[in-house]
Amino acid sequence: MLQRPRRNRKSEAIRQMVQETQVNAANLIFPLFIVDGENQKTEVASMPGIFRYSIDNLLREVESCLQLGLNSFDLFPNIDEALKDKYATESHREESLYLRAIRAVKKNFPEACVITDVAMDPYSSDGHDGIVENGEVLNDETLEILGKMALAHARSGADIIAPSDMMDGRVGYIRKMLDENGFTHVSIMSYSAKYASAFYGPFRDALNSAPKFGDKKSYQMNPANQREALIEARLDEIEGADFLMVKPALPYLDVIKLIKDNTELPVAAYNVSGEYAMIKAAIQKGWLNDQRAITEVLTSIRRAGATAILTYHAKEVLVNKWL
Ligand code: PBG
Repeated sequence: MLQRPRRNRKSEAIRQMVQETQVNAANLIFPLFIVDGENQKTEVASMPGIFRYSIDNLLREVESCLQLGLNSFDLFPNIDEALKDKYATESHREESLYLRAIRAVKKNFPEACVITDVAMDPYSSDGHDGIVENGEVLNDETLEILGKMALAHARSGADIIAPSDMMDGRVGYIRKMLDENGFTHVSIMSYSAKYASAFYGPFRDALNSAPKFGDKKSYQMNPANQREALIEARLDEIEGADFLMVKPALPYLDVIKLIKDNTELPVAAYNVSGEYAMIKAAIQKGWLNDQRAITEVLTSIRRAGATAILTYHAKEVLVNKWL
């Protein structure tokens, strides 16, 4: 045998020398849930180890992450049911929980990279990502609200705006809105290929944001489709996106790879709440080894082509020095 691949696996030193993929703290983005009030820190039942923080505790959490070298955060608000309406008005009110949280994080930690979520669902009395009329989710009318949200986030100090709504044309609309108002430096990380997935369940528990009727299949992508992701990615690129995201991650590694092979932009992947819940549940049962399972998951997402990974595991892998 001239070729014996096992020679390159014979010692730890050689295995590390030939390792093709690394996961570093710099690649990780930590999603954080926010609630109103003071001194709040409540665990999400379906996401052990993940909490909803009031702004005071959010600042403590961000500080402890920064000390670990975890510098990027994606914020999501849990909004009081009484503040929700058909048009997500609360989403661009100056003193809303979310805008106060963005301002507080950027004021205290200007070096932190704050990513903000643009979509109506946490604020919508219908629990949908767009305006609902006669059971239909309207596209172009929704863009106006998304534009207002994005602008409010930029004014509050957001570094990167991440539209997760899947309305057609939203990246271009938001880019124009930001540019016309002097925010040419604010980036857009587009949820380009976001699938109508079963794996968002725990997130909707965390934010109490599940749709009040129907599902999201008229705007989020069909899990059976791969090539359609290229249409979404191409449009986002033309419309001015700085990052293209695939979501969820694990069941869609092929889509991450496909988009990576068809763009020069950095690709991000969202290792979503249901993926986290699945791994945690098996670890709690003693059925999987935590360090090995979690680092394998993150490595596989990087190997498929993701530059950045949004993951609820971001802090624990650094606390435990697993990378
Ligand atoms: C809202 C949004 C969702 C997620 C991120 N932004 C849920 C949804 O579309 O219903 C899911 C994230 C996760 O499951 O971790 N537009």
